Amino acid sequence: MWENLWPRGNLSLELISRELTRVAGRNHKSLKDNVWDPREVERLARELAQIAVKELTRTGGPVRDPRFFTKAKRILRRPMTVRDIGKVVSQIAEASLHLNHPRYASHQVVAPVPVAALVESVVSALNNSVAIWDMSPVGLVIERDLIGRFKKLFGYPTSADGTSVTGGSYATLTALLAARARLVPPAWAAGHARIAILAGAQTHYSVSRSAGIVGLGTDSVFTIPVDNLHRTDHAAVPAAFGAARKAGFRKFVLIATCGSTSTGSCDDLEALATLAHREGAWLHVDAAHGGGLIFSRRHRQLLRGISRSDSFSFDPHKMLFMPLSASVVMVRDGGALHHAFEQYAPYMYGNSGREYPDIGQFTIACSQRVDALKTWLTWKAYSPKLWEELISDVCDVAQAAYDYCHRSKILVPAHEPQTNILCFGLRRRPKTVKASNHIHQAIKETVDASGEAYISSTILNGWRQLRLVVMNPRTTAGDIVRLLKVVERIAKEM
Ligand SMILES: Cc1ncc(COP(=O)(O)O)c(C=O)c1O
Repeated sequence: MWENLWPRGNLSLELISRELTRVAGRNHKSLKDNVWDPREVERLARELAQIAVKELTRTGGPVRDPRFFTKAKRILRRPMTVRDIGKVVSQIAEASLHLNHPRYASHQVVAPVPVAALVESVVSALNNSVAIWDMSPVGLVIERDLIGRFKKLFGYPTSADGTSVTGGSYATLTALLAARARLVPPAWAAGHARIAILAGAQTHYSVSRSAGIVGLGTDSVFTIPVDNLHRTDHAAVPAAFGAARKAGFRKFVLIATCGSTSTGSCDDLEALATLAHREGAWLHVDAAHGGGLIFSRRHRQLLRGISRSDSFSFDPHKMLFMPLSASVVMVRDGGALHHAFEQYAPYMYGNSGREYPDIGQFTIACSQRVDALKTWLTWKAYSPKLWEELISDVCDVAQAAYDYCHRSKILVPAHEPQTNILCFGLRRRPKTVKASNHIHQAIKETVDASGEAYISSTILNGWRQLRLVVMNPRTTAGDIVRLLKVVERIAKEM
């Protein structure tokens, strides 16, 4: 061995030293070796898992640390080494907004079911892309199984199809592309189509945004008034079709919503399906929020009629309590979804005769996480009974909030909750809209800044309202009363 190490000829000191450095370099571990060192990976996994467990089981502390911004800046400034990873991630977690806190009741993002959050690191470690069979054989089987389950559950025929997407906005966009493929087949190549979109005034903004993206134009969106429960007023639908026809439109998409963003209201899907069919319109149900209600025997009647729709969107990352992202779009006529996209990509597609299609051919994304796994796993491991329990709990807590506001001398509910969302405001609000809106927004911001609770706000009929969305299944009626007492105290102080 030594003969190989020592160069022949002069053994000068310089040569010896050069050779010793070379040998030492051979034994020195590269950065890459350290990064993949199994013991190092295990150490990191333990540290990071501990942080995740702490978050998933959180019961106290501030919902949002009042000093979060200063702390975030400090984290940015501090130098860091590999040994600091656990500490820094822990600091980031502590300074973050805690959706797992029982007094978080703000936007429609959940405190996730723990197993669904924890399996995400395995999904990332595998890093299979579900778009094509070659890249994720098992992931694709799981994805197709989940879509098949939803097909049955929502009463769609076997010829229906669907796919995972990264959110309700993508689901709506995909559904509109499927509708366009069916209503105006040459539109993909020609780049334009004239289709009117009729949607209730409480429809999520992703509908008009999608109209803009697809090239239908936001001017093609016709707004239908809502009733006193903030549901699309089906009595006003014929007039909206009339207005669209008068403007020269002959093809239509009617949008219904189950679980509207502001109030969680559910449209009368049976009535809207009848109207859509009568007018020859494509009916899309935005069930991004409310789709999960299908698992609750007490609440699933709110989705009655969804089986008559042409497409619907549904976010398990909302009322199935999955971490981001978990969303699906379902299309009754699977062929319309398959024809919504056309592409030539021989390096990707070309799978023939296999049991499963390459779903990348009918989704927007090319790289796609196996988002279906967490929902599928939760379903299989805990059975849908888990979701039934969680959905009932969050809806009951919203009802408890309503009851409290109803009796409160300071607060007043803006509506009775149909699901897990409640808007409420000051019983004695300022007379002008401007002053009232200002004070309500100020209350919301002060509550959030206090660290004691976290809420959101919205505008109903021109007036800003405080809004709570119960997205943490561990939030109890007692927690929500404590939250409302914080709001009352802050409102009195202002
Ligand atoms: C009714 C409704 N539709 C669609 C969306 C958009 O979903 P995402 O945020 O997953 O894109 C939301 C979001 O809150 C929603 O409430």
